[in-house]
Amino acid sequence: MVASLPGSRPVSPAASSAADSIGDPAAGKAQAAACGACHGQDGATGIDPSYPNLAGQNERYLLTQLEMIQANTRNIPLMAGQLTGKSEQDLANLAGTTSRTPPRSNGCCASMIVYVCFGREE
Ligand code: HEC
Repeated sequence: MVASLPGSRPVSPAASSAADSIGDPAAGKAQAAACGACHGQDGATGIDPSYPNLAGQNERYLLTQLEMIQANTRNIPLMAGQLTGKSEQDLANLAGTTSRTPPRSNGCCASMIVYVCFGREE
């Protein structure tokens, strides 16, 4: 059914398995220490609520953001210099590390489940 939708393209199994591992999480871990200063060492406890959680975020999404931030297509003054000199592989490794860090289990989603299931807020 999906293949018959206008504009849809067939996705080959080879393409999706390549997408499963675009970076080396172990190699990215050492570099991610500097990022933890703002985003939290667990990638989910930023020093300010406006700092986004990276933990558990989609790897390809993260890599795209890192590419845009490095190219300054997405301008984040606070991150100026953070990605300077990093190779495409470095960015992929960083995306691999942060996407595999477990997301925060409490907070917004947990309280939403309590609200939706039990009709009250925590
Ligand atoms: C000085 C603080 C600071 C440091 C250090 C920092 N960041 Fe950020 N980062 C931010 C802020 C603030 C934003 C959100 C800006 C905005 O509102 O778009 C952000 C956004 C991002 C985003 C986009 C997230 C999204 O959901 O779209 C990614 C990915 C990211 N940072 C990765 C990193 C990585 C990887 C490092 C380390 C190499 C790093 N950051 C270091 C402050 C920082």
